[in-house]
Amino acid sequence: MEIYVDTANIEHIRHAASLGFISGVTTNPSLLAKESPNIDIKERLLEIHKLVGGHLSVEVNSLKADEMVREADQILSWFPEATIKIPMIPEGLSACSRLAKRGIPTNVTLVFSATQAIAANNAGAAYVSVFMGRLDDVAQNSEQTLLEVGDIWDIQGYSSKIIAASIRHPLHIIQAAKAGAHIATVPYNVIMQSLKHPLTDKGVELFVNDYEKMMAEKSKLV
Ligand code: E4P
Repeated sequence: MEIYVDTANIEHIRHAASLGFISGVTTNPSLLAKESPNIDIKERLLEIHKLVGGHLSVEVNSLKADEMVREADQILSWFPEATIKIPMIPEGLSACSRLAKRGIPTNVTLVFSATQAIAANNAGAAYVSVFMGRLDDVAQNSEQTLLEVGDIWDIQGYSSKIIAASIRHPLHIIQAAKAGAHIATVPYNVIMQSLKHPLTDKGVELFVNDYEKMMAEKSKLV
């Protein structure tokens, strides 16, 4: 399962990219707005694209298919490798299918059920983003939903990729991988949290101390 970073923050993306295991970035209007109301969206997206190089999902803001396609064309004029993120609404499916017919990759976002996921796949989405945290927030078991979607993809042999999104904690990453998600898009703080283990820290400290002790002993011998 690939890991994308779910943020529009340059410092976080720069550090995450330097770790060597991040293969893409997803953004959304809320993540861009969190950065600053004055943000130059085009500049920021181009900067992110330069840093990571791989997948970059950019979301449209309109709710009408014609407008979504127009926005997609504007994003693609900035950088043609963009994946266009489109909300899972009927107008969004229409835009998705029109873009797919032109060979443009789309990421259908805000998917909360298996039926929505099937519709997004059939409309030609290249990526289908199933939200975990927001499902858990309303007492619906996101792991079950993702397992169901994963099973359907296996049975049907769908070629679109499942993205586990709205990840809130490291356990979601494990559940996503076990459910067969192809990608998990993870906030920076959760990526860092998922790399930590107290026994690793303790082990590193012990190795460093023992090495230093050994060097100190050695220096006494010369
Ligand atoms: C997906 O691509 C979305 O940007 C994201 O995962 C939303 O997560 P949230 O529920 O934490 O806002």
